[in-house]
Amino acid sequence: MKKLYVLLIFGISVPVLLISFKPERPSRPETSQYLVIAWNDLGMHCANLDFSNMCILPPYNNQKAHVLLKGDVSNLPTVMPHSSGIYVTYEIPGNTYSAGKTNFWTYVQHLFGVNPAPNIGLTGNGLTGNMQNADTINYHYATGIPITAFQDATPTTSTPYQLTLIKAYASGGSQIASTQSVIPISHEISCVGSGCHSSEMAILQAHESVSGFNIANKPILCAQCHADNALGTTGTAGTPPFSQAIHQKHGAFINTGTIADCYKCHPGPNTQCWRDTMHSAGVAGGNVSKCQDCHGSVANVGNTIANGRNPWLQEPSCGATACHGPNYAEEQGKLFRQSKGHGGLYCSTCHSSPHSILPSERPEDNVQNIALQGFAGTLKTCSVCHGYTPAAPGPHGFNPLGIKPVSSIIPSDNQLLPNYPNPSTFMTNIPYHINTPGNVKIDIIDVFGKHIVSLVNNFLQAGEYKAEFYTSKVMAGTYICELYTNGKTDFRKIIVIN
Ligand code: HEC
Ligand code: HEC
Ligand code: HEC
Ligand code: HEC
Ligand code: HEC
Repeated sequence: MKKLYVLLIFGISVPVLLISFKPERPSRPETSQYLVIAWNDLGMHCANLDFSNMCILPPYNNQKAHVLLKGDVSNLPTVMPHSSGIYVTYEIPGNTYSAGKTNFWTYVQHLFGVNPAPNIGLTGNGLTGNMQNADTINYHYATGIPITAFQDATPTTSTPYQLTLIKAYASGGSQIASTQSVIPISHEISCVGSGCHSSEMAILQAHESVSGFNIANKPILCAQCHADNALGTTGTAGTPPFSQAIHQKHGAFINTGTIADCYKCHPGPNTQCWRDTMHSAGVAGGNVSKCQDCHGSVANVGNTIANGRNPWLQEPSCGATACHGPNYAEEQGKLFRQSKGHGGLYCSTCHSSPHSILPSERPEDNVQNIALQGFAGTLKTCSVCHGYTPAAPGPHGFNPLGIKPVSSIIPSDNQLLPNYPNPSTFMTNIPYHINTPGNVKIDIIDVFGKHIVSLVNNFLQAGEYKAEFYTSKVMAGTYICELYTNGKTDFRKIIVIN
């Protein structure tokens, strides 16, 4: 009901679209022509809540989004450039303020030397606003959103997986698409909560022997002396980077080799930040079941930095030989969160963020793709973006039709070629030629004319193709393969022996 209402409203605004933008595809209402897909850069953002003693990480969250003009049989989908005038807004329904939920704004000047107004984060963004973009990039983004894990209605209940509402507007101001994406945030940095340190003051007191450390100057920004790529600080000479200091120091005694090691500080027993399909697979007996399988031990995370690893910027990769290999790799020298794949889209467009790779154990992560394609998991329904199912290979060479283009040579006729092997025991290959782009149907019928299976039922470009008929699934006998396209029919006889 709600959807219909939205469609009706924006159906009316089509004329505005025609004047301002994209006149070549006017037949559909603009709400059905565009889609926006959003994601968070990291599977989890952590932030302190109480900044009166120290700051490890400030409230700082990021959202990114692609706006796409959907394709159709004669047009590829287009990632809309900044110059189109399309703009994107973000909000977090049910979470409209942070000042008071955290005391960050009391201490921000002391910690970071800047003084943003309450509810405004370190980059000038608030909890709602317009995303930024640029002519050189094809996505929209908002960084430094100062969100807390506490919604307005439940200010004492931690809600780490909140949903944003992201809306895209045409330059004329009419809404053309919207989506929801997770904006993960946890305050589970449990120096004290995990039972390890008696208080934050005790941590600071233990540091007093370090020269230049002045407890009276609290709150203390750890990254002030310890270089931290997460905050862009370079630290003081001779001080180990923050990640190195933390992991080396604690790795000496936190070393059970289980996920609990990491959840002592990373969020955590309550948040369970690693919740993705690889975690589910590991729980089910798969080969990745703990953080250490990809990152190594706590000590290893620190030691590798001492040996030259750049923290935050050199991390495990999907494309490692022992993992998914080169067909599923990040761009050369880039992280997953920085890489683009099929169609120039960020990997996260289809897969979500690191540690929340879809399908996720958290229902919130799955909301967007369920809305787009009707089910949770990788965005693999080509028609969401293309408007139909292309017959050519898509992401990583994947094609759901099983239609195998053999070559794009334009043949002289529409026809079935002899299938092989014939007779067939298990599977027979059916090569065919399409001379003119159009709807192609290939059916298998038995000698009584009964329909057995449709092998192809799709719009195909001209070219040479091959279909596969798994004859092991049918009884022995004679079958007819029929090709219908461009008003023409062709037949071949297939013998099945079992
Ligand atoms: C004034 C600069 C300064 C600040 C601020 C600072 N540190 Fe350090 N920290 C150092 C230096 C220097 C060392 C190296 C000491 C050594 O091993 O010689 C160090 C070492 C450490 C170590 C390793 C300790 C060991 O025994 O190996 C940890 C862990 C650590 N810091 C955590 C923190 C945390 C957490 C904060 C924020 C609350 C913080 N530091 C703030 C300067 C600082
Ligand atoms: C004692 C607390 C603590 C434990 C235990 C811990 N971490 Fe961390 N980790 C941190 C903190 C604090 C940071 C953030 C450092 C910063 O701000 O740069 C961090 C950052 C990281 C980073 C990003 C920076 C980098 O070095 O690339 C990775 C990766 C990481 N941790 C992995 C792990 C894994 C895997 C485990 C378990 C095997 C683990 N950590 C256990 C406290 C911890
Ligand atoms: C299946 C492999 C895998 C497992 C298991 C895994 N990570 Fe990661 N981790 C990665 C990859 C890949 C990256 C780099 C992501 C990117 O490009 O942003 C990463 C990055 C990180 C970072 C840096 C921030 C970021 O997201 O880029 C932290 C912190 C981290 N992992 C902590 C953990 C903790 C804690 C666990 C267990 C609870 C864990 N990881 C489990 C693969 C893994
Ligand atoms: C347009 C959507 C899309 C984009 C963008 C995309 N992928 Fe995929 N990805 C898929 C689909 C669909 C599959 C499932 C394909 C299959 O089953 O062969 C998949 C599968 C994977 C797998 C699992 C492979 C396996 O062994 O099961 C990995 C790893 C992967 N992608 C990594 C990436 C990386 C890294 C990027 C960015 C460089 C990326 N993907 C970009 C759609 C996408
Ligand atoms: C999230 C949106 C999205 C999804 C899902 C998607 N595509 Fe695409 N696809 C694109 C974009 C964007 C382009 C690039 C258009 C351009 O280059 O102008 C593209 C390009 C293509 C092309 C042209 C050649 C190329 O690789 O650039 C083919 C073929 C294709 N897609 C097939 C598929 C198939 C098959 C699927 C389903 C398995 C699929 N796509 C899923 C967005 C998508």
